Amino acid sequence: MTTDAQAAAQPGGRNLPKADGGLPVIGHAIPFFQDPVGFLLRAHGRQGEAVTFSLPGRRVASFCGPQANAVVLSLDDTEADRRPVYEPLLAPLLGRGVGFNAPADVMTWHHSLLLPHLRRDALTRHAAIMFDQMERYVAPWNGDGTFDLMAVMRDITARISAHCLIGPRFGRTLAPVLPALLSRLEASFFMSFAIGPRPFLPHHRRADRARETLTRAIKEIAPRDRPEGKKRSHFEELMRAEGPDGRSLDEETAAALMLSWLFAAVPITIHAAWTGVLLLQHPQWLPVLRAEQESAFTDYPPTTLSPLHKLERLGHCLLEAERLHPAIWLLPRLAVRDLCIRGYRVPRGYLVCASPGASHRLPDVFRDPGAFDPDRYLPDQYLPDRTEHGTAHHALIGFGGGRHPCLGPAFAQQAIKVIWSVLLRAFDLELAGPDVREVRASVFHPPRQPCTVRYRRRKR
Ligand code: HEM
Repeated sequence: MTTDAQAAAQPGGRNLPKADGGLPVIGHAIPFFQDPVGFLLRAHGRQGEAVTFSLPGRRVASFCGPQANAVVLSLDDTEADRRPVYEPLLAPLLGRGVGFNAPADVMTWHHSLLLPHLRRDALTRHAAIMFDQMERYVAPWNGDGTFDLMAVMRDITARISAHCLIGPRFGRTLAPVLPALLSRLEASFFMSFAIGPRPFLPHHRRADRARETLTRAIKEIAPRDRPEGKKRSHFEELMRAEGPDGRSLDEETAAALMLSWLFAAVPITIHAAWTGVLLLQHPQWLPVLRAEQESAFTDYPPTTLSPLHKLERLGHCLLEAERLHPAIWLLPRLAVRDLCIRGYRVPRGYLVCASPGASHRLPDVFRDPGAFDPDRYLPDQYLPDRTEHGTAHHALIGFGGGRHPCLGPAFAQQAIKVIWSVLLRAFDLELAGPDVREVRASVFHPPRQPCTVRYRRRKR
């Protein structure tokens, strides 16, 4: 029996409609690189759920909307493969033989080594670490002052990820330099998937040095970095695991794998920062969220996950940040054979993309899609005509979906809930300038710096 996704991906079908414009050789590169999500929205607005356009040396088949997302994200690697797209992006960052650069069965094994850190028992331990890290971080902020939102989010998500996923000593030792090192890695994520193999630029050299420094630090510190109450360090656990070929990891690969976990701090930073920008641009939400804090936390900081699960309104604000500013706005794959997707013929060699950035702003899926409206996620017993996110699977794809969804949403959302719980409880906050723009130079679209926030410590 074939599934809908398989049936939709049989060869045949009609030609993809073309995006307007485009120049010889460079194709649609100028509007695409200037404002990728705007370009995709305009193209899909005119042509519907499928459209093709060209970039230098690439033809792209872009799909948009819940039904198309479901099909594209369910394609398997023998149809549309992520690996040739992500490989050039990640190999210089993490080295070879890890994640997308490893054979498929090894990559699956690598993912399985991360899972123990993302299960409920681990998340309960992480919650204590997250609150502790965040409270210590803001402890010196007395009276009033200002901070740069992105800089603070980089600092705190790096500390949290290092401490939870690698170990406490690594977190403490690297805290002063980790955000800058991760930023250097992030800067090398120029849109290489869209322009083929990366040109070697100065920021790639800086990224290479950052990777060397981090790998060395992981190898030096992580092996003896035992979390409290544990017999072995996370690194020792990794080295004991047995792979599909019966062999275990060597030290270099274990360090690269840990670096890939650490890099997850980058999308968490962006999601946490946009959550903050949107909340502070819509201050009418702050009393609602503070009231929710009062009712959710009977003891503070909590010793279980249940109070964090009770923060539903804050959760809805996170969903709006994911919708309006997905940390990863495009999910590309390479068509490894001729495909037919939703009745459209996609020739082998095309880049096949689902786009969180464009899909999340479709007016027929999300009412008034440009508006920050966390109520759209309320359960339908409160507002029967809402719950737009619930109406269609794959309407919201900020964490991917289908065959290869993100492994870390629970960890990421928990970290962001903790960060904003601590900030909202301890401080009155406002944006110094309400107009915050996004940086569009890479596969990530963070808020532009400086993004200054004024704070005043609240009376306890
Ligand atoms: C706000 C934070 C995060 C965002 C927005 C995010 C987003 C995504 C997206 C969109 C994908 C799918 C990529 C694709 O289909 O092409 C993905 C995959 C993945 N993510 Fe995340 N992620 C986040 C945090 C994390 C964290 C904290 C971890 C683990 C510590 C993690 C681990 C992974 C892994 C291992 C995959 C690959 C899954 C696979 O290919 O089977 N992510 N992430």
